[in-house]
Amino acid sequence: MVRLWGCRLPLLLLGTLLPAIVLADHSFENTAIVRTVELGGSLVQVTTTYAVKALEDGAQLYRIALGEREHQRTSWLEAKIKGQSAILALEDAGYEPESGMHFYSIELPKPLNLNATTNIVVETVETHATYPWPREASQQDPQSLKYESDLFILSPYKTSVERIKFRSPSPVIHSYTTLEGLDEYNVEIPVTKSGATITYGPYNNVPASATKDFVSHKQYPIAVHYSYDGPVLEVTKLTRAAEISHWGANLNIEDNIHLHNAGPTLKGHFSRLEHQAANFYGRNPPHVLPGLTLHLPSGIHSAYYYDLVGNVSTSRLREAPSLPNRGQGGSYSVLELRPRYPIMGGWNYSFTLGWDSPLEDYAGYDKATGKYVVGIPLMTFIPGAVVDEAEIKVVLPEGAIGVDYIPPLSPVESEVHTHVTYLDTVGRPVIVLRYKHLTHKHAGTIYVTYEVPFSAHLKKPLAVAIAFMSLFVLGFAVKRMDIRIQKK
Ligand SMILES: *[C@@H]1O[C@H](CO)[C@@H](O)[C@H](O)[C@H]1NC(C)=O
Ligand SMILES: *[C@@H]1O[C@H](CO)[C@@H](O)[C@H](O)[C@H]1NC(C)=O
Ligand SMILES: *[C@@H]1O[C@H](CO)[C@@H](O)[C@H](O)[C@H]1NC(C)=O
Repeated sequence: MVRLWGCRLPLLLLGTLLPAIVLADHSFENTAIVRTVELGGSLVQVTTTYAVKALEDGAQLYRIALGEREHQRTSWLEAKIKGQSAILALEDAGYEPESGMHFYSIELPKPLNLNATTNIVVETVETHATYPWPREASQQDPQSLKYESDLFILSPYKTSVERIKFRSPSPVIHSYTTLEGLDEYNVEIPVTKSGATITYGPYNNVPASATKDFVSHKQYPIAVHYSYDGPVLEVTKLTRAAEISHWGANLNIEDNIHLHNAGPTLKGHFSRLEHQAANFYGRNPPHVLPGLTLHLPSGIHSAYYYDLVGNVSTSRLREAPSLPNRGQGGSYSVLELRPRYPIMGGWNYSFTLGWDSPLEDYAGYDKATGKYVVGIPLMTFIPGAVVDEAEIKVVLPEGAIGVDYIPPLSPVESEVHTHVTYLDTVGRPVIVLRYKHLTHKHAGTIYVTYEVPFSAHLKKPLAVAIAFMSLFVLGFAVKRMDIRIQKK
């Protein structure tokens, strides 16, 4: 499986790649490009279909270009042939100073002959691509967002016809850029609005646009201003600690979440009375966040949730039964979090969420290699939110050796060290993975493999026994000593 993650990384090579990047950009032409931008809050999904035609025999590397801003926003990118499920190998060809753009090379499943055609679908998820407009809102005001972009889709190849659609989640579109002077593209109506969809184009005979010259003379900035009824959430920092205990046959997961409501910042003071009244009539705007509903794994127990003030008892957990060695998906437990106060636009809320699971739901033992395999979910997904920074720590049993791991996507940073805690003798290996800009598309499982020598299995009970023994001996000694205050 080939998956590219985080275009912010300097270079990411995945899958099998052809030995050299063919720079010749006359190997293809686009017979059509259709882009659909699903406007959202923190996440914007962009799907671009390139109908391509080979202009020479053996054409196999198709290049796509991302402008500086587009590249900054793109947190996830995946290419497929239309109607197929296999993910195409993708190479980050890096920044090209002559054009001022970032290029990716997509490897087609097989070389195309002259005049052969195919349809490539490129899906991306953009994060931090919208902003509240107006920037401030009172407790009763609705929420609207703005998305800014460029009209023409950048491509190193010439394009016969192209069309860009913006789909808003609500039909309330306050404004969008209208255009004039596009006669050279033989366009009848430059832009049309129909319900919640705005369509730019079709534009005909667009020259190769991945050049500085095109961008500075022929590109048009466009913006869409739309009403958005969902919360705009950012997790500025997520710290996950997953602790594997063979002794207790338990997997404990604890998430430390710093949440930011990126909706319009609250104008004036927060009024609880006003909030309760609006709540009563079900009229709280989306930038007033009363709580969150999270999906946690099935089979969890002893869940806890606390914030800076302490235990929050207004949460509700509906537990789904345990499913040993389940695959991805399936059923899940639902946790409804209700902070002490609603989280208003611009506010932050930090909380800790933890639970225990039977280890057998996640772990397997490979008799052939004598190794344990444990699958740790990468993160708790908060619907619609981007996780700006994530640190995932997997704490292995004491004395584990031969530690190895396969992450679902390459981390920005990773390390393995040893951590010694209470009642540990030799310490526990800890795997730390760091990521940036995670979205729902990045959810996955970290597979950790390790061995636990038989002697290590005994260390914990031994350490506990010794600790108890010393307490007992101490207690005994204290009893024997006369430490009462002497009274004459
Ligand atoms: C490819 O298409 C061009 C233009 O449509 C045509 O002139 C040419 O003969 C075609 N070549 C082959 C090998 O089909
Ligand atoms: C936290 O609140 C829950 C729900 O009321 C309760 O079951 C739990 O015992 C509390 N935990 C602590 C540590 O007070
Ligand atoms: C929220 O947190 C961010 C950084 O995580 C900080 O820059 C910002 O000032 C905080 N906002 C408030 C209202 O505390």
